[in-house]
Amino acid sequence: MALLEVENLSVQFYTEDGVVRAVDGLSYEIERGETVGVVGESGAGKSVAALSLLRLIDDPGEIVDGSIRFRGRDVLSFSSDELRRFRGNDVAIAFQDPEAALNPVYTVGEQVAETIRAHGVASGDAARERAISLLERVGIPDAATRYSHYPHEFSGGMVQRAVLAMALSCEPDLLVLDEPTTGLDVTIQAQVLELLEELSSSFDTAIQLVTHDLGVVARRCDRVVVMYAGRAIERATVEDLFYDPSHPYTAGLMASIPRIGDGADRLPTIPGRMADPVDPPTGCPFHPRCPYAEPVCETHRPGLVDVETGEPVADATAPDHLAACHEHTGDLDGGLEYEVLIDDETTASGGGTDP
Ligand SMILES: Nc1ncnc2c1ncn2[C@@H]1O[C@H](COP(=O)(O)OP(=O)(O)OP(=O)(O)O)[C@@H](O)[C@H]1O
Ligand SMILES: [Mg+2]
Repeated sequence: MALLEVENLSVQFYTEDGVVRAVDGLSYEIERGETVGVVGESGAGKSVAALSLLRLIDDPGEIVDGSIRFRGRDVLSFSSDELRRFRGNDVAIAFQDPEAALNPVYTVGEQVAETIRAHGVASGDAARERAISLLERVGIPDAATRYSHYPHEFSGGMVQRAVLAMALSCEPDLLVLDEPTTGLDVTIQAQVLELLEELSSSFDTAIQLVTHDLGVVARRCDRVVVMYAGRAIERATVEDLFYDPSHPYTAGLMASIPRIGDGADRLPTIPGRMADPVDPPTGCPFHPRCPYAEPVCETHRPGLVDVETGEPVADATAPDHLAACHEHTGDLDGGLEYEVLIDDETTASGGGTDP
């Protein structure tokens, strides 16, 4: 049994414009201690999926279908007490918008210490000491002094690290990180990634790492879920994903990675726009943007299949190399030759953003 099993998860928001299908039949799993990257363009449903794990979807949104199991227990049927314990002890989330996670009227240190007390990890002065050591661990210099500073006295990168410290305070088995290194400079980003590495190896913490940065995925993740229009369109180990991307969308994302020597101004993107979540295309949601689309793609929604055999996956959480593209079921004429603009050098240096 995997630590986390998400099956056919669907989340909708009821808005003036109509029903937004933010997450639409998403399935994946995370094993103990492993780091799973969730990638995809803006609007793919990455944050909504992350929030759903902790049942943090509020009005006008709702989880309308599917299941979330943590160590085999059904998260969607937890009582409020069970939910509180789950959020306090088992899983923690660091939000995409770190500023919003801190209260401007309390010092950063007090907020970290309070989280520690609330989780019952330590109390009184011990919680303070622990907060300082956590702030140190996430790379905040002079943490004892910084403890008494207010959020507005912290830089964006420091706020981000403080939020990470809060998420770590309950020693979760699963840490959900939404864009934890976005906006950090390269050195701090490397430090945060190193810290995550250390955590997953020393505490066996599993990490769901939501990111736009395929370089981060290459460096830090064991497996990857590629999301498009609210669903997983490819799932693979990092090696399989980079060396054998099996969905045209994944290949397009890879092609968007700037390569060494390309110059910073060249950043190709996939032509077209993310599917409209209120009125998604029929068939494969990627077909309007897909260079390989054929009539079947407009009419039939491809399910996830094993890319080796073309067989549909019976168990939606099977950890194989899966892609949702008619190519792999043999419904498209001929094989597709994806032009993937990536080489070993790019993979090894993590997207070529390093000098
Ligand atoms: N509270 C909300 N009300 C209405 N629609 C929402 C709400 N939250 C998210 N959505 C919609 O759900 C879809 C998925 O959003 P989500 O924030 O999960 O995308 P994302 O993949 O995290 O994007 P980004 O990379 O920009 O963070 C989007 O179409 C978004 O507009
Ligand atoms: Mg997001």
